[in-house]
Amino acid sequence: MTSPNWDQYANLGMLQAVIDPADSQGFKNRLIDRVQWRLLQPKLANTKSLLDFGCGTGRFASRIGDMGIKYAGIDTSENMIYTAKKINQSSDFQFADFNGLEIPFPDNYFDTCISCGVLQYIIKGEDSQQVLAEIYRVLQPEGRLIMIEQASRSNQKSGLGVRSLTEADYQDELSRLFTVKSISRVRSGELSRLSNRFLKISKFLPWLFNLGLDYVAQQVTDSINRADDFKLYKLRYFDILIDSNAILRN
Ligand SMILES: C[S@@+](CC[C@H](N)C(=O)[O-])C[C@H]1O[C@@H](n2cnc3c(N)ncnc32)[C@H](O)[C@@H]1O
Repeated sequence: MTSPNWDQYANLGMLQAVIDPADSQGFKNRLIDRVQWRLLQPKLANTKSLLDFGCGTGRFASRIGDMGIKYAGIDTSENMIYTAKKINQSSDFQFADFNGLEIPFPDNYFDTCISCGVLQYIIKGEDSQQVLAEIYRVLQPEGRLIMIEQASRSNQKSGLGVRSLTEADYQDELSRLFTVKSISRVRSGELSRLSNRFLKISKFLPWLFNLGLDYVAQQVTDSINRADDFKLYKLRYFDILIDSNAILRN
């Protein structure tokens, strides 16, 4: 697997450890986190029990718990789990060894699995089908797998060793065990002029950041959804949300 050594980032804090480790001021990471959560949250409206596969610092845990959902997070980095437990003391986090090939829960345990920024390191790799089969095992019949991952049509990779994967690569790899219901675009890997300006001004006027956050987050998603094929092929990468259901077992 080409996943970076996540242990080294874990003490950078809830967002910096798992989004952009270079963003020490945190505005960019807060914007990306808001963009992702705005799209993820409505998908969880009917969820009762959820596995966060590769939970990192558990940045979604308390928000998911507040929705009345039973949350469990697992991660292959001991340091991430240590940080997650420290930050979210009332949530369930477990270290899972074996590169995610053994999820420490029984069959049919969760109705939903989310995975954000994790399967992009695994899909099309040597363990890809085994990891997906393990997620499938712990999901109830027709349970949901919702992922937010990087896609690229320009065959470029982002900084941290992600494979260059198209939406079709994900769809193809999932198709043995999952039916893909939708693939939606979340954000461009490159910040727009508006986002850059917003982040620059926020450094001097932090109150403006809170005021404008939801507006700019919506613009970020609208902008990638407006992008035509020509623009998409020029981007280094963009985030996609894949909503899928486990295929019914015979
Ligand atoms: C980019 S971080 C994302 C963390 C979290 N999902 C989030 O969005 O905040 C990727 C995380 O995936 C974990 N990870 C990588 N490979 C994994 C695997 N095979 N099984 C479980 N976790 C894994 C890493 O340790 C790291 O914490």
